[in-house]
Amino acid sequence: MPIKLNDTYLGQGACRTEAAAFLPLLRDADEKIRNKSGAGNDYVGWIDLPVDYDREEVARIKKTAAAIQAHSDIFVVIGIGGSYLGAKAAIDFLRSPNYNTIRKRTPDIYFIGNSFSGSEILEVISLCEGKDVSVNVVSKSGTTTESAIAFRVMLSYMQSRYSKDELRRRIFATTDAHTGALKQLADENGFETYVVPEDIGGRFSVLSAVGLLPIAVCGADIDKILAGAAAEREALFAAGLSNDAYKYALYRNAFLADGKEVEILCSYEPALRSLTEWWKQLFGESEGKDGKGIFPASAIFSTDLHSMGQYIQDGRRMLFETVVRQTECGCALKVPYDEADVDKLNYIAGESLFDVNEKAFLGTLYAHRDGGVPSLVVEYERRDEFSFGALVYFFCLACAASAYILGVNPFNQPGVEAYKKNMFALLGKPGYEKEREALLAKINS
Ligand code: PA5
Repeated sequence: MPIKLNDTYLGQGACRTEAAAFLPLLRDADEKIRNKSGAGNDYVGWIDLPVDYDREEVARIKKTAAAIQAHSDIFVVIGIGGSYLGAKAAIDFLRSPNYNTIRKRTPDIYFIGNSFSGSEILEVISLCEGKDVSVNVVSKSGTTTESAIAFRVMLSYMQSRYSKDELRRRIFATTDAHTGALKQLADENGFETYVVPEDIGGRFSVLSAVGLLPIAVCGADIDKILAGAAAEREALFAAGLSNDAYKYALYRNAFLADGKEVEILCSYEPALRSLTEWWKQLFGESEGKDGKGIFPASAIFSTDLHSMGQYIQDGRRMLFETVVRQTECGCALKVPYDEADVDKLNYIAGESLFDVNEKAFLGTLYAHRDGGVPSLVVEYERRDEFSFGALVYFFCLACAASAYILGVNPFNQPGVEAYKKNMFALLGKPGYEKEREALLAKINS
């Protein structure tokens, strides 16, 4: 079943009329997407990826994943931003946020290289002691400092434990097909490589080897993920301008025009927390530029109703919500009957937790709506590979359309360079002497 945008809870607010006003811009965005003619059109490989992927590479990924499962207790994924968030989202969604602690036949999976925290790296290394380990370093550019440092440390650890031949069975690099320091390192050491397609940016790359190798290692069926994305792609393009991803893009722009500058992506399933992190990067990096864009935030309900709920209900009115909702009951747990009923829960004894969650969802939605926070609902059927692929494709297409409507290039991220420039200057990186001088003058003034 395709992903569905449910807008029935919006009521008859101004947003509907305003969304219609963006139709000409949507038509233009759709043309840019279909003809691959918009800004950043050298990064639109993700559009056809679910039907036009390297079959040989996917077969190799499955073989490698099976080998890793057979010879490793721990699989360490090194990457930052688009080079890890999608894989983490998939593993939590398809397996569990507690994946590493549940009983399973597949390796534990740790993500490092997404910060400069030395203690995080050392902790993972200490967890590797006495266990068999494999490593996947993921970096399109091959030069991202966080990942490069973590890989340098991890490589040295792996070298202290394994022979050169064994390292070749245990270290995998996902990077550009031809260039970059990581590609060079991998080739020099004989590590097997996987490709981040040239025409796909990090945050749009989860359905490439970037996401597929770690996802396959956790035991998920990557063919089904690709099939879900392909089915969603077909359904969306077949529906033309009125497709649900485009509708979502229209509403987002209408909300923004109405002063709703913050979108909270919420879910009532904790297993979607990492998906919301992936979504934040997708929309934040794609739209937040040229002084424009919705600030993407996230929440997991009902836990965050006990922390952020007060603000959402009652704080500054600049919010709208998009709830990612599962339509099929995924768990049979029911509220037990208790003779003593000290906790006064017998009025819902026999109700499934799924139904209780549904009531929490509906109750919250109307409370927030009454409080001036309207909600869209994005519906998927169940937590399986097919839905994951479909959700990824839905949000990628919506994001591209929404950014084009907004009038920005969805596929670049010029703002990310600013912190790097200052950090390199402070670290004394060769080539940053002038920046260092200017920055130190500012700091010391
Ligand atoms: O979406 C993006 O392009 C970024 O988030 C990158 O994925 C991130 O900066 C990591 O870059 P790289 O894969 O080159 O190490």
